[in-house]
Amino acid sequence: MEKQHQHHRGSWGSSLGFLMAAIGSAVGLGNLWGFPFKMGANGGFAFLLVYIVLTVAVGFAMLMAEMAIGRKTGRSAVGAFRQLDSRHPEVGYMGVISGTIVVSYYCVLGGLCLRYCLGFFTEMFGGMGFLGHGEEFFQTFTASPWSMVLCTAAFAVITGSILMGGVSGGIEKFSTVAMPALFVMLIALVVYISRQPGAEQGYAFMFTPDWDYLKENFFSVVSTAAGQMFFSLSLAMGIMVAYGSYLKKDENIPRDALLICGADTIIALLAGCLVIPAAFAFVGEDAYMSGVKLLFVTMHQVFFNIGGRFGCFLGFIFFLTVSIAAITSSVSLLEVSVSFGVDRRIDKHKAPRRKTIIAVCTILVFLLAVPVALDALGGAADATPLGLLQQLFPALALKGWNESFINAYSFISEGFLMPLGALLMSLYIGYKYKTTLITNECGIRRGRVLDLCYRFIVPVAMLVVLYGQLRDFLG
Ligand code: PFF
Repeated sequence: MEKQHQHHRGSWGSSLGFLMAAIGSAVGLGNLWGFPFKMGANGGFAFLLVYIVLTVAVGFAMLMAEMAIGRKTGRSAVGAFRQLDSRHPEVGYMGVISGTIVVSYYCVLGGLCLRYCLGFFTEMFGGMGFLGHGEEFFQTFTASPWSMVLCTAAFAVITGSILMGGVSGGIEKFSTVAMPALFVMLIALVVYISRQPGAEQGYAFMFTPDWDYLKENFFSVVSTAAGQMFFSLSLAMGIMVAYGSYLKKDENIPRDALLICGADTIIALLAGCLVIPAAFAFVGEDAYMSGVKLLFVTMHQVFFNIGGRFGCFLGFIFFLTVSIAAITSSVSLLEVSVSFGVDRRIDKHKAPRRKTIIAVCTILVFLLAVPVALDALGGAADATPLGLLQQLFPALALKGWNESFINAYSFISEGFLMPLGALLMSLYIGYKYKTTLITNECGIRRGRVLDLCYRFIVPVAMLVVLYGQLRDFLG
């Protein structure tokens, strides 16, 4: 009986397939868009060093822990933590909630990527007509409620359909084709941009180490780097627990965690050698170098200025790359709530009904995404959470978190639940379940350094992130 249900949960077909799916989850908008501008604006190479140290000391340890907990318990986030301590499944619930919130705004951003991808594709046969020159298209398009909702729905449906194929037949199959394609397209774009005059200014902006900036803003650089690293490695959302639960017992977890950390960082750096240098080479220093406008206005202008069919072709390739990255990440995010639903039914000895659960989760996520789509990603002045809340609390003031729905969503998930969940998880591992839970599952003999990570380094890093995020969003 137990075996049969385990079979219903699904499992990975091969080690490579799992790696592609996990790297697919890690590589997303965070790498292709978030990392480049955060690195450029936070001390360049100095930021990179902090980021790498944190990836090794914090990210790698937590990634291994999540995968080990998933595989050991054979359950996704909530069930896994409940199995370890029946009174404290809250870390799992936090993952399910924040994963669901992240995937909802991911659908809006991903939907827009699809729209740009399609736009450049059709323009290849017409030549830069209706797409216009960057900003006005973005303003008009995001201000059109139907267009935004339609793109969001399309992205949600694509995500749901991939999950319908199952763990190995859907997630794994898609990632095994999509991730190598993403890598090849990214390299081609990086090489093309490196040959353009003006790109060197972008490399200088990205890589010149600003040690003074690091010294003066040490705390905020560490907080930004740690927050970005956690998001980029898909940690504290229950994903790597769920993905780990589909692993075979002989899979080498430390090796996989290392490969995932390495691939994720390399792709973020490659994106840094593409997005910012392209902006300098084709738009100039005055381009938007951060926020959604970096992706949807500046990058649009880049390909418009390259011009002609070739510009459209490159624009199509770029937005296809970003769309693939977004899809494999949102698939993993939706899998968190789907696997939660499936495990609940299995624990009650009912048929898993995975497809029904996927349909329900997709619809829920879409509904949650609608406010983000309707407030034009922060462009609509009157439909913000602040505007709505002020009807109840007239004295409420404008802060970072309440100026748009996307900010409110990212505050609750990435800003608050993610660092808090990771903090609790590392304390539980370090002091309650003990590090041996992880080392035994991973086949590591000496775990002294890891013990230090779970008991001390990760909790301190997460407190810094939590403080930094609360200050940024509420300050
Ligand atoms: N890691 C993805 C990115 O860098 O965009 C986003 C993400 C996916 C975050 C899955 C969290 C997650 F659980």
